[in-house]
Amino acid sequence: MIKLVELRKSFEDKEVLKGINTTFEAGKTNLIIGQSGSGKTVLMKCIVGLFEPTSGHIYYHGRDFMAMKKKERMLLRREMGMIFQNAALFDSLSVLENVMFPLDMFSEESYKRRRRRAEFCLDRVNLSEAGDKYPGEISGGMQKRVAIARAIALNPKYLFCDEPNSGLDPKTSLVIDELIHSITQEFGTTTIINTHDMNSVMGIGEHILYIYGGHREWEGTKDEVMTAENERLNSFIFASDLFRKVKEING
Ligand SMILES: Nc1ncnc2c1ncn2[C@@H]1O[C@H](COP(=O)(O)OP(=O)(O)O)[C@@H](O)[C@H]1O
Ligand SMILES: [Mg+2]
Repeated sequence: MIKLVELRKSFEDKEVLKGINTTFEAGKTNLIIGQSGSGKTVLMKCIVGLFEPTSGHIYYHGRDFMAMKKKERMLLRREMGMIFQNAALFDSLSVLENVMFPLDMFSEESYKRRRRRAEFCLDRVNLSEAGDKYPGEISGGMQKRVAIARAIALNPKYLFCDEPNSGLDPKTSLVIDELIHSITQEFGTTTIINTHDMNSVMGIGEHILYIYGGHREWEGTKDEVMTAENERLNSFIFASDLFRKVKEING
């Protein structure tokens, strides 16, 4: 569980996050939605410690992130898996070596066990056959799956995905969404996903935080999103193809 209390972030005199309060529960896919520039990436970077918030609090299972010393933060980082917008794989390493990378960095297990763990993770994303391939030789969707395998290699308690479906076709996006969702349930991770993909919202939006201009505009579930009376949320949803189709079907 991750709890945010009055989280603010400014860059010089520009306030990007204007006091965010929310709770992301464990075992759930928590989605942060909002139009481009609304502050999703900045928020995620604050939560993982890549940006220092200007004020407010972040609690990891009750542990105050802002009050942690450098060493405590480093230990906490090992409990985080991250998937960023571009899969960000190492081109010169094979798929298996990419997944082993965090294990080589942080795990004290033997080579054999690290390798076995990496193979398990690759198998989990249905890529057990691709270990010897290089990132340049596989599709964008497969690269994303490798990134997911790498992100779960260290058995993270917290999983962060910034626009995991960017650049993927709708069908492949669905596979990635389902994979992140099932991993979240299986391992009970606290998963936070930044997205502006309405298919993801309606597919795996167990908890949705809609941010608008750096503040929490609306919060709810995918079942509540369609009947929400928030005007800004509605126009955000209206702008998506999926919503238009549903409206057409329902007359
Ligand atoms: N390092 C930075 N310095 C100054 N402004 C930034 C920085 N990073 C992001 N911003 C600004 O913060 C706002 C929110 O950006 P971002 O979180 O990337 O939006 P989103 O991910 O929702 O598209 C934007 O106006 C952006 O220009
Ligand atoms: Mg972003």
